[in-house]
Amino acid sequence: MTNNETSKPWRPFGSKCCSADGQTIMGNMRTSKSDFSNNSSPIPSFRLLSFSDLSHSSSTHINEDLAQSFGGDLYDFKLSELRAITQNFSADYLLGEGGFGTVHKGFVDEKLRQGLKAQNVAIKLLDVQGRQGHREWLVEVILLGQLRYPHLVRLIGYCCEEEQRLLVYEFMPRGSLENHLFKRTGISTSLPWGTRLKIAIGAAKGLAFLHGAENPVIYRDFKTSNILLHSDFTPKLSDFGLAKLGPEGSDTQVTTRVMGTYGYAAPEYVSTGQLTTKSDVYSFGVVLLELITGRRAVEKSRCKNEQNLVDWAKPYLNSSRRLRYIMDQRLGGQYSVKGAKQVAHLAFQCISLNPKDRPRMPTVIETLEALLHCKDMAVSCGQWPVSNTKIGAANCRAQTRKGVQNKKSTSANSIPRKTV
Ligand SMILES: Nc1ncnc2c1ncn2[C@@H]1O[C@H](COP(=O)(O)OP(=O)(O)OP(=O)(O)O)[C@@H](O)[C@H]1O
Ligand SMILES: [Mg+2]
Repeated sequence: MTNNETSKPWRPFGSKCCSADGQTIMGNMRTSKSDFSNNSSPIPSFRLLSFSDLSHSSSTHINEDLAQSFGGDLYDFKLSELRAITQNFSADYLLGEGGFGTVHKGFVDEKLRQGLKAQNVAIKLLDVQGRQGHREWLVEVILLGQLRYPHLVRLIGYCCEEEQRLLVYEFMPRGSLENHLFKRTGISTSLPWGTRLKIAIGAAKGLAFLHGAENPVIYRDFKTSNILLHSDFTPKLSDFGLAKLGPEGSDTQVTTRVMGTYGYAAPEYVSTGQLTTKSDVYSFGVVLLELITGRRAVEKSRCKNEQNLVDWAKPYLNSSRRLRYIMDQRLGGQYSVKGAKQVAHLAFQCISLNPKDRPRMPTVIETLEALLHCKDMAVSCGQWPVSNTKIGAANCRAQTRKGVQNKKSTSANSIPRKTV
């Protein structure tokens, strides 16, 4: 390994492991008391190997350094092996594509490596001409290689050969929350209210786990496409390429280049670059709004005052009477009125302009878990005075007639999706 003098001393973590929820967490971990509700997993406090510990490692040494750091917990795959299980990354095996590159389905069997479980995997292949690169790949390997938690997608291995960078994850059979909420093709039924709550709670636990580290991990890219779903709709967070290790103590902030995704990034982060765990809470609030309304954080195809979900939905969130106008029509009215009201109020708090007014993630979890057993289901048939699409269109026309100035979106006006 080629550390220069300014880099921190680094020790391999080997196999010193601890566990949460029966899963493994590596690193110099100490347990801490959790402020979770009783039936939630304890959040451990742990120190993590950071990007700077390995960022000076040359590409020829990186495989050795990673192998030394992660031992048998991550598999170092050969490009030829990954080509073989994806028919040379053919379109038939394509699961999707994002900023990093394409994602392909494959199957690894136990003969490939000692100790490897036979399973389906998802393989992310870096687009070498693309917007992301070695840095994001390494951050992902370092963070996900150390973090094991039921609500974080599991990294199985990686591949680094010349300029090629790949990541091998557990396969998530139901794909992303984004696909279920917004993409009409292939998915005929809408997510029921209870499933939406389950997903919100699991994703909140994922964030709480990250924020619970001694050096909190600020996820920085919380959005529906990064929430992947298991066959029973258990959600897991994926994509840690933009994640940032915060300083110790969760209220302190780091100042950094602004990166993220339109519509999800907290306004203070966009305007000042100051990043705290509360920036993630804001993004969580935006995802809650998407779950409530079935609308995307940003929809350029809508009229101006409806393009930004936060700006559009805010006035409806604190009145049960108004709330029903923005509820996702695909729910068919099948949701708990009490639950929806509380979720809307929680979303309202999460998207507060002042980060201090946003709740912490353990509080979010507690609030959401209390709603799991609400029995009151609205019955929609005939109850809706006008469809919310019609209301939207009417509002648009009214605003245009009055010449109302469209408030410019406070969030994410010019966020590069690219990292360094
Ligand atoms: N572990 C996985 N299991 C199953 N499908 C996956 C997995 N990881 C990614 N996918 C699929 O691949 C798609 C692309 O994922 P990717 O994270 O590369 O891009 P994205 O999240 O859509 O965009 P961004 O680059 O902004 O994060 C996802 O939407 C999902 O459908
Ligand atoms: Mg993603």
